[in-house]
Amino acid sequence: MLRSVFCSLFGGLGAFYCLAVASAALAKGPYCQTHNQKWGYPFEDLGGSYLQNKTQWEACVTPPRVVLWHMVLFSLLLGLGLLELLLCGIQVVNGLLGTVCGDCRKAGDREGVGVRALATIGV
Ligand SMILES: *[C@@H]1O[C@H](CO)[C@@H](O)[C@H](O)[C@H]1NC(C)=O
Repeated sequence: MLRSVFCSLFGGLGAFYCLAVASAALAKGPYCQTHNQKWGYPFEDLGGSYLQNKTQWEACVTPPRVVLWHMVLFSLLLGLGLLELLLCGIQVVNGLLGTVCGDCRKAGDREGVGVRALATIGV
């Protein structure tokens, strides 16, 4: 049980890293070529306003549709990171409860409930 908790904590750490990278990338914007032929991060200092304002997307010329790609990719990563964090959180709580509580069933229930049930119906 405790091993599962540690695995989940490690997974949660990875999920947190994924969230951090994805949100930082979304805030910074894609690396692309602008109108004056220079490569850079044209949305870097705009505080992420390009996410709502499509007219700003034209600041990126090459590669084509890079802003949309960037947003879709890192939004997916953000969503998956959140999901992973949620699942790992549930698993940590579950594992801790299991460690603290142990096998909480009564001793009688533990041994062969299924077998006895089968016996009562005559199999
Ligand atoms: C979107 O960005 C363009 C170009 O920077 C700007 O002229 C326009 O006012 C912005 N629109 C909104 C709704 O912020």
